[in-house]
Amino acid sequence: MPSKDELKKQAAAAMSRAYVPYSQFKVGAALITEDGQILHGCNVENAAYGPTNCAERTALFRAISDGHAPRSFRALAVIGDTPGPISPCGICRQVMSELCLPDMPVFLFNVKGDSAETTVAELLPGAFHMPDVEEPKETGKL
Ligand code: THU
Repeated sequence: MPSKDELKKQAAAAMSRAYVPYSQFKVGAALITEDGQILHGCNVENAAYGPTNCAERTALFRAISDGHAPRSFRALAVIGDTPGPISPCGICRQVMSELCLPDMPVFLFNVKGDSAETTVAELLPGAFHMPDVEEPKETGKL
């Protein structure tokens, strides 16, 4: 598992690539896979606003698209230029609760050096899951 400093550095590298012409608010995420890869995600905005994708979801959706198994991840780090450590939005919390194990650590940073460590379950107590997702079935791979 990378050090906290390394997690922050990786999330910041992702942040630098954010596409934010509307909010100018860059966010970066770094997802650590089971085999130690570091997958970056940044927020990607859209003129229609609604299609905007947060950094956390970009990293998680990219990981799934790349063939990493849901709930196989070791940690997620997120950074933004917020007064305290960045707080993931509700949609990202729901997506984390689907694709990550409840006790997976989530490291939250801001640019000026504040940090906090939490877990997926702490970020969304009482998360909605399909009744059988606690023991998820393999999704129909061809
Ligand atoms: N955003 C993220 O990418 N992650 C968060 O945790 C909070 C919000 C993005 C969405 C949008 O592009 C911008 O930050 C302002 O809300």
